[in-house]
Amino acid sequence: MRPTRTATPRRYLMCPPVYFDVVYSINAWMEPGKPTDTALALAQWERLRSLYQGLGHQVELIDPIPGLPDMVFAANGATVVNGRVLAARFRHPERAAEAPAYAEWFRRRGYPVHDAEHVNEGEGDYLVTGERILAGSGFRTDPRAHAEAERVFGLPVVSLTLVDPRFYHLDTALAVLDHEEIMYYPAAFSPESQATLRELYPDAIVATDADAEVFGLNAVSDGRHVLLPEQAVHLIDALWDRGFVPIGVELSELMKSGGSAKCCTLEIRETQ
Ligand code: ARG
Repeated sequence: MRPTRTATPRRYLMCPPVYFDVVYSINAWMEPGKPTDTALALAQWERLRSLYQGLGHQVELIDPIPGLPDMVFAANGATVVNGRVLAARFRHPERAAEAPAYAEWFRRRGYPVHDAEHVNEGEGDYLVTGERILAGSGFRTDPRAHAEAERVFGLPVVSLTLVDPRFYHLDTALAVLDHEEIMYYPAAFSPESQATLRELYPDAIVATDADAEVFGLNAVSDGRHVLLPEQAVHLIDALWDRGFVPIGVELSELMKSGGSAKCCTLEIRETQ
């Protein structure tokens, strides 16, 4: 029998892709020679934002900054759990200035912000489940940052190692669907991490190569609705089977920079 899923209202921070472009290459998807269409990127992003609003979620905005073409990927801007903010610290100098901009957004609104000691790319590599934080490393976030997150948030952190350069952030290879339910692409992880995931989540939805390659794991769930790239057709079927309501989105322009729905979305988790 299909479980009945319940959505809980969320608060998201997003950044309009006003200055979106691909002018450097810091992941396997980015080809600076290829043309980008900023107006189309904006229209696709607007659609994502209005879908969230239509589902009853609150969307906050941060002002985009010229010269920071990847700032649209708000998930990388910080991690917010229980009203506490762990600032990001980017691996590549091209994105370094995004971290203080996001930290400042939270400080101005009265959130306590912890400045990061180690490189961490926010929710790109920290995914919060009901009772733990799944933390990626291998390409961006420094494994030493995982212990830092554990200290800042007081939640157990499970370290996972990414091994495929196409899936360089944890949120490109794994999505949290509900408290302790996930979907993921095993081949993106080291054998040890695959064993950890199998043990923790024996009932997880396992993505096919085709679904992972269209960024199907870069999904945002409110516990019932799951927004993900519409090309991820097998995942969409699997989600329906589990009682979720998948909603396909088209973010082809942002894919040119190696990002999709989840990358554009930073969840602000208030005090419990
Ligand atoms: N071009 C960006 C980068 O390589 C894309 C970031 C995608 N964000 C994400 N949360 N996976 O850093």
